[in-house]
Parts: sequence; structure tokens; C-alpha cells
Amino acid sequence: MKTVGVFDSGVGGLSVLRALLAELPGVRFIYVADSAYAPYGERTVGEITDRSERITAWLLNTHHIDALVVACNTATAMAIDSLRTTHPDLPIVGVEPALKPAAALSRTGHIGVLATRGTLHSARFARLRAQLESNTSTPLHFVCQPCDGLADAIERDDLQAQQVLCERYAQALRDQAPGDMDTVVLGCTHYPFAADRLGQLLGPDVTLIDTGIAVARRTRDVLGIARAADGDPVPPLLLSTGDPTLLSQAAQRWLGLLAQAGKLET
Ligand code: DGL
Repeated sequence: MKTVGVFDSGVGGLSVLRALLAELPGVRFIYVADSAYAPYGERTVGEITDRSERITAWLLNTHHIDALVVACNTATAMAIDSLRTTHPDLPIVGVEPALKPAAALSRTGHIGVLATRGTLHSARFARLRAQLESNTSTPLHFVCQPCDGLADAIERDDLQAQQVLCERYAQALRDQAPGDMDTVVLGCTHYPFAADRLGQLLGPDVTLIDTGIAVARRTRDVLGIARAADGDPVPPLLLSTGDPTLLSQAAQRWLGLLAQAGKLET
């Protein structure tokens, strides 16, 4: 049986784990929520690289993982190059804001991108955006909105703060692209858990896009596994550097998992 490590700054990567469990029911997943250091979105490249390297080394040494999924846009933007240099033989799948699928889907070319400050200000994101803008025949207009505090509010399951922040950022998108925006990219793995709220605020004419399913398919390709027909997923191992109870509760709330999360010191 293959073992795959998955990590995020906290509970957000559960949105990717949900897709991984559906796509790869025969794989054992070890999920690490780095909640003691969340949110990553306003941390430095050095801090995020250090955390990503520590978690990856622990997953390799303790669980001998066959592949790693960086289920965090911010850690992918800031640390995936370093991880690939440190572990050249480990297949590593990252998560990037779904600009390309959004460009393919949008009719107006006006696309909102909600992500952390760290992701939006990274060189990797700038490259992705520039590539798309130069390769398209129809003009694309990306409206990029950093969502300070939103991942943290989702992390803490603070519904009131989520509502206030979603209202603020939905309004900010509308102010910058009045009437034209038909597609919004959820460029942080925490945000799918606020998708209902954001969808209501943005209205029925706006399609929200996230990357969970695409990442799960890419992980299957990387592992060389043919699509399994059916079967219950192997129960994942859930670990948190912060409060494991919050991770267990989030996994139950969003994924229907009854697993008891453990504490990870690294
Ligand atoms: N879930 C992460 C992401 O996809 C990080 C959010 C945060 O910790 O700020 O960017």
C-alpha cells in the first residue's frame, strides 16, 4: 500500500484530503495540520520553508512516504522549490490557484482571485499570471484580493468573523470588477470551507473554482495508480502541531471522518 504525506498550515488542506480520499481510496494518507504555526499567509518565506522542510523530513523518516502533497497554496508558492531540491527523489505535488481552469471557463475574462497575501505576492504566482496573460487571445483581467484573517477565522471555526471577512472581500472584488466578473478562484485551501458563504455574497452568476480534484488526479498520476473502482477509503492518520481536537472536529464536520487526531511535536 502506498503512503502519501499531506500538509497544510492547518485544517484547510482537509479540502484537498477530501478529494484525495475520493480519488485514491486504497492509499494511506498522513495529514499534518501545522496549526501551531498557522496562519502561513502572513509569514516570511524563511519561516514557511523551515516549517515545510521539518514536516517533510518527519513524514519521510517516520512514515517513509511515497509522495508528498503540499495542500497549501502559500507553502507551494514559497517552499516547493526548496523541498524539491532537498528531496529530489520524492514526488511532490503542489497546489496553485486555479487561474488556468478559470481562464478556460470565464466568458467575460474578468476573474477574481482570493488568496493569502503570501501567495499573491510570490514570484511563482506572478509567473503563472504572466504566462496566462501572454498566451491568450482574449484579454484576461485578474482581480487579486488578499484575504487577511480569513484562513485564521476558518481555522478557529469563528463563523461571525468568517461572515464579516467574506462580506469585505466579496465587496472588494465587486468594487474592482463591477458587473463583469463571472469566475472567482479560491486560491487558498481553507476557502472551500467558506464557499457557501462566498457564493451567496457573490451571487449565482459567479462560478467558484478550487483545485482539490485536480490535485487528487495529479497525485494519482504521480503514484502511477489506475483509478480504483470502488471501496471505502483507508482511514487517514490525522496529526496537528496545535490542538488536535480542532483538527478532529474539522475532519468530522467537513469530511464526516470520526478519526481522533494526534499531537505532533516537530
Ligand atoms: N491553506 C493555506 C493556503 O492554501 C494557508 C492559509 C494560511 O495559513 O494563511 O494558502
